Amino acid sequence: MPRVFVSDFIPGDILEPLEAHAEVEVWSLPSGGLQLDPQVSRRVPREKLLESLRDCDGWLSMLSDTIDVALLESAPRLRVISQMSVGVDNIDVDACRGRGVSIGHTPDVLTDTTADTAFALIGAAVRRLPEGEAIVKSGAWGPWDPWHFLSRDLHGATIGIVGMGRIGQAIARRARGFDMRVLYTARTTKDVPGATPLDLAGLLERADIVVIAVPLADETRGMIGRAELGMMKETAILVNIARGPIVDTDALVEALANGVIGGVALDVTDPEPLPPDHPLLQFPNCLVVPHIGSATIPARRAMASLAVANLVAYLRGEPMPAWFPGSAEQPLGDYSASGSPSESSDS
Ligand code: DGY
Repeated sequence: MPRVFVSDFIPGDILEPLEAHAEVEVWSLPSGGLQLDPQVSRRVPREKLLESLRDCDGWLSMLSDTIDVALLESAPRLRVISQMSVGVDNIDVDACRGRGVSIGHTPDVLTDTTADTAFALIGAAVRRLPEGEAIVKSGAWGPWDPWHFLSRDLHGATIGIVGMGRIGQAIARRARGFDMRVLYTARTTKDVPGATPLDLAGLLERADIVVIAVPLADETRGMIGRAELGMMKETAILVNIARGPIVDTDALVEALANGVIGGVALDVTDPEPLPPDHPLLQFPNCLVVPHIGSATIPARRAMASLAVANLVAYLRGEPMPAWFPGSAEQPLGDYSASGSPSESSDS
């Protein structure tokens, strides 16, 4: 049987189909079970990864695994990586292609959940909810005041969506429910009702809310820097639900310190996790949550199921439901006949 390593807990009912097709090793902390204390990292130590992957044909990986050339070199049998996330920026995709390693990921099943998070962040930042909560908790809440704590309106605002992929389109659908004017940037024009394509500068100049929804790649790293922040309206809110390094953190700190933009709401940061004494956290108009865009029970179960389905399909020699383009083409047909050294893995 082929061997598969799984980098984190996967609910038993979801893992079951994989266990019928492979000998499965699931990483868990020495304390065992699912450790839910956010202070305790469940990340597989690098040494353990290198050791476990040495004999593995497949891997169900997590965003927190760093998948680089050195790791691939120490995993000579590896043919398939199925990652439980849509983004694969932790994986050296070119190196995988060069070594014949196919990659699966989990698009679609988290789209609406992530767009919901974007809207929760947009609403909270535009209506200054964290600042309001801080006032209540500090005891500074006085009598109702008609002119105190005013914000802008969410409805009728102009939203600029940077990246009109699946998640960008789901954000645009929600924006229409708030009677927003929708602007977007994309490599190709998309058929999104009521949305206007623009170049990045045009979008940044016009939008009241700018939402980053592009994947992290060489072209998008540092895409929002000092110059871009300077193009935004003084009152505009920047929301990042994609990846931290798309926004230049130092430039963002500077922009908030100088009142260049109105506020920011981040599900992702650079660095991530953000240390509690990071300068970003000093600003009352900066809301940061810990990369929870897809963190609902249904979405995470669906992501785990799709990650398992990708692996099972590969091992059965069938097309993966969600192959990541740019990784190695999948050899279809009987897995053991596909050039994998699976015969020795039975021993
Ligand atoms: C992803 O899937 O890429 C998210 O960032 C984690 O849900």
